[in-house]
Amino acid sequence: MEYSAGRLDAAVIAPWRATVRRILPRGIARHYRWLRYYAIKTRLGREAIRNIVIDWKYGGYCGGRTLTRFPETGAHTTVSTDYYELEKVFGHQGVSVRSNDVLVDLGCGKGRILNYWLHRGFKNRLYGLELDPEFAGRTARRLAPFEAVTILTGDAIENLPHDATLLFLYNPFGLPVVERLKARIREKYAHRLETIRIVYYGCMCLEAFLDDPDWTVQSLDHLQLFCRSVVLVPQVKRMTNAEVDASEPASVLFEQH
Ligand SMILES: C[S@@+](CC[C@H](N)C(=O)[O-])C[C@H]1O[C@@H](n2cnc3c(N)ncnc32)[C@H](O)[C@@H]1O
Repeated sequence: MEYSAGRLDAAVIAPWRATVRRILPRGIARHYRWLRYYAIKTRLGREAIRNIVIDWKYGGYCGGRTLTRFPETGAHTTVSTDYYELEKVFGHQGVSVRSNDVLVDLGCGKGRILNYWLHRGFKNRLYGLELDPEFAGRTARRLAPFEAVTILTGDAIENLPHDATLLFLYNPFGLPVVERLKARIREKYAHRLETIRIVYYGCMCLEAFLDDPDWTVQSLDHLQLFCRSVVLVPQVKRMTNAEVDASEPASVLFEQH
């Protein structure tokens, strides 16, 4: 007999889950859903250990989950991506980092992405942009020994570095802010849109880019990530004279290189 995914779930997995819940002590069974989520996410705890070890190499633990203090801005919870997932995102089948890329983590939180880029030995210029001054300050102090790293506190859309090329987002904010980011990127980098790529990990507001002819969406489904993720590339269109006048002069781009 052939099973579709739904039938397999109903016929085999669901009864198993119910049995496991029944035999667990009541205190643990109450947290079953969360424990199951955690066991899958951390591959039975192995990834939690890897996270701790690499975090400590860069001066402190970056795990945990903190509700945002700025919900009115559309900001989401501060929580860090697992190194295991980053290995896949930036691994040989994932997104390539070029030697002249300027890497930016929009909503860097506790700074684990920056740790990962340093850990990979990238020599690129690295930026972390964080809204919450407490997390921004802590990350800035922790990574102060690394000259390549700059932390900018405040709204990431206002603080986009002039020399950015590869932007990383782990579901930092809701749809209105994503829409604002989209518009700002096209405006700020109008002269060199072809150099911009956005890695959108856990792309909860992907609808902002779907069916938008100004953007190409490349799926990262082949990496089998824990969260659905994509690479977004702005489409280059010919600028009007007024747009050319309004955008940043090419001479100031890459001035730090
Ligand atoms: C899910 S955490 C991601 C942390 C980190 N990028 C990582 O993957 O490990 C999202 C972070 O984005 C920050 N954030 C939300 N809105 C922001 C904004 N407008 N500008 C800068 N940071 C923002 C939140 O404060 C939070 O720390």
